[in-house]
Amino acid sequence: MKKILLSAILSLTFINSAFAAHPQCGETELANIMGNMKDSMKAIKGAAKSNDIEKLNSVANQLLASVQKADQYVPLTITDQKQLTAEQQQKFADYKNGIAKLEQAVTALTAATNAAERKAALGQIGKAAKKGHKAFKMDCDE
Ligand code: HEM
Repeated sequence: MKKILLSAILSLTFINSAFAAHPQCGETELANIMGNMKDSMKAIKGAAKSNDIEKLNSVANQLLASVQKADQYVPLTITDQKQLTAEQQQKFADYKNGIAKLEQAVTALTAATNAAERKAALGQIGKAAKKGHKAFKMDCDE
């Protein structure tokens, strides 16, 4: 019985990995940086709610550093290889454009001096993330 159970678990694990989008999906350095960005956004929204502007600005600066790091990594949807073809280089340039938009919005957040400016910058950040994910984020479950 134990053996049957074990082989059932093993085959389920195998099936799961056989259907995963990519063995590195969610495990890349870029995914790690994005995870940190998500934590920063959560902290920023909390700080905005409690009107802790000092905290908000300090986390926004951390977020900015993560975004600048994200600019250097090629999304898995483009390639998992070091050497990029001409077409992949074009896609990577598009990705970098999306990251530059995000950087602009986060910079606006760090420079905001009132609630309306902060709200507008947060809206732009959300927009950039949505657009960037639609174009470049792999769905790990597919
Ligand atoms: C503050 C804004 C953003 C947040 C909070 C965010 C958050 C995330 C999170 C939580 C993941 C999943 C990580 C995992 O699987 O563990 C992810 C993945 C990803 N995001 Fe973002 N993201 C943001 C903006 C963007 C933008 C603007 C782009 C593109 C221009 C982008 C491109 C990607 C890509 C390509 C992945 C998959 C990583 C890979 O290919 O290995 N993200 N993001």
